[in-house]
Amino acid sequence: MRDKIVAGNWKMNNDLQEGIKLTSEVVNMVQDEVMGNVRIVLGTPFIHLTNVAKMLTESENIFLAAQNCNEHESGAYTGEVSASMLSSVGTDYVILGHSERREYFGETNKQLAAKVDIALGHGLIPIFCCGESLEIREANDHFEFVCQQLTESLFHLDTEAFSKIVIAYEPIWAIGTGKTATSEQAQDMHAKLRTHIAEKYGTSIADDTSILYGGSCKPSNAQELFACPDVDGGLIGGASLKSRDFIDIVKSF
Ligand code: G3H
Repeated sequence: MRDKIVAGNWKMNNDLQEGIKLTSEVVNMVQDEVMGNVRIVLGTPFIHLTNVAKMLTESENIFLAAQNCNEHESGAYTGEVSASMLSSVGTDYVILGHSERREYFGETNKQLAAKVDIALGHGLIPIFCCGESLEIREANDHFEFVCQQLTESLFHLDTEAFSKIVIAYEPIWAIGTGKTATSEQAQDMHAKLRTHIAEKYGTSIADDTSILYGGSCKPSNAQELFACPDVDGGLIGGASLKSRDFIDIVKSF
């Protein structure tokens, strides 16, 4: 049985005080309101992690994510943060391969394979992002492109390691644009990814892999997206910055 997950990706938003306030609102709403069996993940900037981790110690279903880690164990990599550092402050998940990191920081599928390895090696659960540009979709190459992202960054893993991975499908043309993929487009891609995983690791592992959708997901469309049989939750950008919207998305399951 795969996990249902709603993960917020705050990106480069919120100073520490704002992050603490947002976390506190989310914790209180989760305590006070009835919601289903969903793992809630807060993807904060690095500097928030220590404080937010302390605020989540009593919460059984709220977890902490970083938005990146370096692919090396340690060393002279000025400005970078290692997987062991993330682990040492109580981080549970790490978002890897977000399209913004691929586009602005030149992250490649090969580099991401190394990041996945080091994250797993330090007990972090990678939320591996994949997704195509509008140009690739219009050329009808989107299935092949996204499957290749998985092949090149994840398919070197053995079955046990792969079974820990969470996938987030985020069509680039839907990120921060207000233009959500239709539930049919999301379902088609998620089903395709699940088949691709099954071909490599078998149907049991594929059936247990959580595949999240990301891209302009909000309270008004989350229910329809999460009703798709292969959509196991969301990776939420803008709407995760408002506690009410974020929790309403969680409650859309
Ligand atoms: O990681 C989250 C995605 O980039 C989605 O962002 O919900 O603001 O479109 P968005």
